[in-house]
Amino acid sequence: LPDLREQWHRLRQLTDHQFAINHTARPFDEDVFAASLAARPAAVSYHLGDPGDLPERAHQAGCKWIQQVMDVDQARQAIDRGADVVIAQGGEAGGHSGFVSTMVLIPQVVDVAGDVPVAAAGGIADGRGLAAALALGAQGVAMGTRFLASTEMSISPDWKQMLVAAQSRDAVHEELLDVLLPPYNRQHHPAPGRLLRTPFLREWSGRRNELATRAAEIGPRAVAALLEGRGHEYVPFAGQSVGLIEDIQPAATIVKGTVEDAVRILAKLNSG
Ligand SMILES: Cc1cc2nc3c(=O)[nH]c(=O)nc-3n(C[C@H](O)[C@H](O)[C@H](O)COP(=O)(O)O)c2cc1C
Repeated sequence: LPDLREQWHRLRQLTDHQFAINHTARPFDEDVFAASLAARPAAVSYHLGDPGDLPERAHQAGCKWIQQVMDVDQARQAIDRGADVVIAQGGEAGGHSGFVSTMVLIPQVVDVAGDVPVAAAGGIADGRGLAAALALGAQGVAMGTRFLASTEMSISPDWKQMLVAAQSRDAVHEELLDVLLPPYNRQHHPAPGRLLRTPFLREWSGRRNELATRAAEIGPRAVAALLEGRGHEYVPFAGQSVGLIEDIQPAATIVKGTVEDAVRILAKLNSG
């Protein structure tokens, strides 16, 4: 918690812009949640489960609630719980993701969202993806894998090169992960992690039960590697959008290029 407080403090010093603090059910930490509300981010984002009364608590603290969902039932639930923004995450997304593709999911979530803005996530890495998401009815996008391959991202250069070299079919859904990482401690939606195949994964794939018996020994090693920026030696999260990533760029260049390309594409479509 002191580390997190220090990070939030640094963030405030580095930007006047708004930011969100993310929580998930894996594991959910009540003390960290309460402290994050006290830090007054513009929004709290949440993934992997029914948030229950958390949105209400965020609203009482003056924060918006952003809920990431993987299917239309979760979208309905998020809206019932008071989500201010819904992120509809297609199954091609990196990290924990579901089974409905972005192309199919976005219009369905838009249909149930009413006035609640929808951001599209999963498989979007450039202006073409942003233009497509807007065409499907989303108001914006959330990109993950593309920013992993950014100059600022504090992962090892080898990991970034691995992302540049990888193709879409290298980013696979893998059940192994759930025995390695810290456990869920709140009601959650089961979703496998999407990650790049590594020698570690090839060694353990299909041996989930055996890995479970060694999780106490190997899990902390994987977490420590992740914290040191060497997560690519174990189970590196990445989406199918790796196939679209050909270089490492500063985050601002990625954002600017994505928006400019989408504007150009949409203008061209309009003029036709
Ligand atoms: C390395 C990595 C870590 C992620 N960790 C989280 C997380 O802690 N919480 C969360 O809500 N989503 C997390 N996600 C999922 C993203 O929020 C988002 O849905 C996803 O990156 C979008 O798909 P894309 O990777 O194709 O851009 C993660 C994604 C990646 C690639």
